[in-house]
Amino acid sequence: MGNIVLLEDRLTVEQFCDLQEAVGFGRPNHEQIEKAIKNSIYSISVNVDGEVVGMGRLVGDGARIFYIQDVFIKPKYQRKGIGRLIVEKLLEYIKSNSLINSNIMVGLMAAKGKEEFYQKLGFRIRPNEKEGNGMMINIKL
Ligand SMILES: CC(C)(COP(=O)(O)OP(=O)(O)OC[C@H]1O[C@@H](n2cnc3c(N)ncnc32)[C@H](O)[C@@H]1OP(=O)(O)O)[C@@H](O)C(=O)NCCC(=O)NCCS
Repeated sequence: MGNIVLLEDRLTVEQFCDLQEAVGFGRPNHEQIEKAIKNSIYSISVNVDGEVVGMGRLVGDGARIFYIQDVFIKPKYQRKGIGRLIVEKLLEYIKSNSLINSNIMVGLMAAKGKEEFYQKLGFRIRPNEKEGNGMMINIKL
């Protein structure tokens, strides 16, 4: 693989839409993504020889609760360690931008079959003996 560069908070709407489409999740609404990027806490985009091949971002309250969202790696670049680099960088951001003596929860919703990728990065699956299911609702306007 070529020269990998991780860029902080440089993700564009076009890149986000292209990456989401490239991983098969459909092309999102341009205006919605513009607002989503603006309201994100932090984003990472990954460049290989000038091409944006991956992304990931953090949403949340910036203090107690963070969620990892939209970790997308172009199919041709998957299984080369780029997803791991992105998630590690997101976790590093949280550690270096949080108050000491604070408990922080970092959550995410794994796509089908991607649980093991996140387990390898230290995430635990819910439900388990102590914790209930993750839950969600979709709202379509
Ligand atoms: C899931 C995804 C982000 C993983 O990124 P990646 O760059 O391919 O993963 P990496 O190469 O960094 O893999 C890190 C480790 O996880 C493992 N891994 C990666 N994808 C996996 C999968 N689907 N199932 C099991 N293990 C997986 C790798 O083998 C590697 O293991 P190792 O450290 O023991 O060698 C990427 O495949 C992707 O973008 N998929 C499509 C979009 C998607 O579903 N995103 C997740 C939304 S929640």
